[in-house]
Amino acid sequence: MDLKLRRLSYPLGVEVCDIDVAAPMSESQFGQIYQAFLDHCVLLFRGQDITREQHIAFSSRFGALDPHDAFPSDRHPDYPQLMVVTNEAQADGSPSVSRYAGRRWHTDMSQTLRPAAASLLRSWRVPEVGGDTMFANMYLAYDALSDGMKKLIDGLHAVHFSGTRKLDATQTDQAHASEQQRISPPVAHPVARVHPETGRKCIFLGEKVKRFDGMTEEESKPLIDYLNRHATRPEFVFRHQWRPNDIIVWDNRCTLHEALGDFDQTQNRYMERTTVFGTPLGYAVSA
Ligand code: SIN
Repeated sequence: MDLKLRRLSYPLGVEVCDIDVAAPMSESQFGQIYQAFLDHCVLLFRGQDITREQHIAFSSRFGALDPHDAFPSDRHPDYPQLMVVTNEAQADGSPSVSRYAGRRWHTDMSQTLRPAAASLLRSWRVPEVGGDTMFANMYLAYDALSDGMKKLIDGLHAVHFSGTRKLDATQTDQAHASEQQRISPPVAHPVARVHPETGRKCIFLGEKVKRFDGMTEEESKPLIDYLNRHATRPEFVFRHQWRPNDIIVWDNRCTLHEALGDFDQTQNRYMERTTVFGTPLGYAVSA
């Protein structure tokens, strides 16, 4: 049976229609889904009223799941394969530690030596309006660079830092950032990355990057800012408006994404994400 796909935007993303991700799925049917993932970088499945176990089981078909050792504070207490992203207060009334998770352009786990291949984010509760997620296509962004710029970045490695999440100036937040930096010391990855499965080149950057390896922050900043601005130009971006029980799957190796905080914070936004391990990449550097 052929998959029914509906394009979500010009640069990337398709909706996979009429699929229940929790239903038994043959290898060949999953193969078509996986091919669509490689071809379109972002997949949307609507109306997936599934259990956590089913979310984990479907995610496992994309590869081995990360137990989120790099984010112990955001991990679901009973399911280490699930990361919680929410603005809902904790049981003791204190603010959610993940309330600012994803609020800048990034690719998941790039602060580690095994950046994520895929992420599968499921929406449980969403605000009436806003709280969208944006995705940008890094193949198109790389292809649109001049030959001179491609040559320049082909030789560069970018240093990705943990603990760069937006913070309120509370001690808890500062302590959280320091702990994140302790768990994941900085790592360097190629700025022009070859996707391990498609063989295509893409920009691999985002706002966890503070400098290029071998250069100071001051020297690096203008080019990092330019590349991140270029990479997230509207013509490379799809903006997703969530409904409850959506699942979005994205390929972290060739996309950036950003969660928007433009919603009424008295309303609940509660999401859970699985993260599929990617192949080892990069090397450790000193801070
Ligand atoms: C994430 O960066 O994984 C979270 C994205 C979102 O909450 O929309």
